[in-house]
Amino acid sequence: MWLSHRITRAIALAMMFAGSLAHAEEYLETEESVHSHPTVMDAWFNGKAEVYIQDGLFAKVFPELRRDFAEEGIIAYGWSMTALQGNPVGGRDQDFQFTNLTDFGVDFDLETIAGIEGLSARISGSSASGNDLTEDVGATIPVNAVFSGDSTRFFEMYLEQEWGDEQWNLRVGRLAVGWEYGLDYDVFTNYLSAAYRLNVFGLDANTPNFSVIPFANWGARLRWTPNENWKLQASFMNGSPQDFADDNLHGLEFDFQPGRGSFLIAEGTYQWSATEQQRRSSGRLPGRITLGTYFDTGEFDHLDGSGRTGRDVGSVYGIVRQKVWEPEPLTDRGVHVWSAVTHAWNESLVTFPWYVNGGLLWFGPLESRQHDNLALGFANGWFSDSLQGQSTESVLSASYTFYINDVLDITPNVQYVVQPGGRSNTDDALILGVLFYLTL
Ligand SMILES: *[C@@H]1O[C@H](CO)[C@@H](O)[C@H](O)[C@H]1NC(C)=O
Ligand SMILES: *[C@@H]1O[C@H](CO)[C@@H](O)[C@H](O)[C@H]1NC(C)=O
Ligand SMILES: *[C@@H]1O[C@H](CO)[C@@H](O)[C@H](O)[C@H]1NC(C)=O
Repeated sequence: MWLSHRITRAIALAMMFAGSLAHAEEYLETEESVHSHPTVMDAWFNGKAEVYIQDGLFAKVFPELRRDFAEEGIIAYGWSMTALQGNPVGGRDQDFQFTNLTDFGVDFDLETIAGIEGLSARISGSSASGNDLTEDVGATIPVNAVFSGDSTRFFEMYLEQEWGDEQWNLRVGRLAVGWEYGLDYDVFTNYLSAAYRLNVFGLDANTPNFSVIPFANWGARLRWTPNENWKLQASFMNGSPQDFADDNLHGLEFDFQPGRGSFLIAEGTYQWSATEQQRRSSGRLPGRITLGTYFDTGEFDHLDGSGRTGRDVGSVYGIVRQKVWEPEPLTDRGVHVWSAVTHAWNESLVTFPWYVNGGLLWFGPLESRQHDNLALGFANGWFSDSLQGQSTESVLSASYTFYINDVLDITPNVQYVVQPGGRSNTDDALILGVLFYLTL
């Protein structure tokens, strides 16, 4: 029985969460509700885990401590994701797995601490554990964006300098490309499958140098946000994250490897936001479009297994999102639709030359539950012709996020994977699961 003792653990875990939930609600009653959830959909995401001093478990348990440190310019943050998923139907074999990933760090506001205008720093780490249901399903696209091996790792470490009225921003150090590129944070964080969360999967699937949580590598990123409509950014990265994906290295593989090629990425976003007047009179709604490209001059193995290697991998991508309906003017509630496409080369070296996904996100579907959301998605990846016997893999997904409080979100999820691994002899898989998202 694939359920067996694992279900007992699931129940124990759920009870643990329910316990912490009851506590969290108690804490909440002592404070006015000050959270900002979901984030305002037309604000720029600043490329790191969002920190609200008043949110999260620590803020509830030690409110003064957290505020006092923040006033001194030291902001600790953290979040933890736990996914419980099983595939009762289809895939390679039927199983049920748990996995979790915790990310924690400290931001130093060096303007407050040392009087250096516009300078800040971050240092962070992560802890991952659990098992990978993706293997049981036989899928190439991970069935959750949580599983990251079994290791405690060093993650980011960077300095960030802002200048010119906050229009310019330079970040240097150990960075994760995926925090800043190929994502629409407010939208993608409502999904569980890595087909959508946190980045458009066609980007990180094709080169490990498009580093994603919990991996970082050496690099620098320059960003220009001349006004509220435009954001342009570019990065140079070095050092192969693949080297320290190894659980035993704990993210401490710090070699700078100029000889091993360069990873260059650039992205531009334009967003249209309507004024209050326009939204009231014409019902004009916000949206945005992102276009980007990357080049990787590193050496890659041929996918045909011949042992040959090749150079120069690249990709272009686009993401578009539009709010299509709101129940009343100027509310965060309403329906957004989005879609993304990636095209990559060279086909003998990249797994997915084409990848398309998209979905619908309904914030506050019920008047009485304004901070919940419904997220629907579809994704399709076309495998390289060099991968014999693999054609396309598709993922359909539906999630509903129950916003419990500013400490906990619970997201039940259903996925249907058509042709896992692109292999017609693997049965389509039905995956049922739930994601617990805890803000620490
Ligand atoms: C999740 O993380 C916690 C804390 O690190 C750990 O105690 C627990 O065993 C993990 N659960 C699984 C299923 O790996
Ligand atoms: C990117 O990854 C490949 C293959 O994993 C590696 O050989 C290459 O050197 C890496 N590129 C950079 C810039 O580190
Ligand atoms: C793809 O890369 C391989 C290996 O470097 C090379 O032999 C082939 O000509 C390349 N194909 C294209 C279309 O550039």
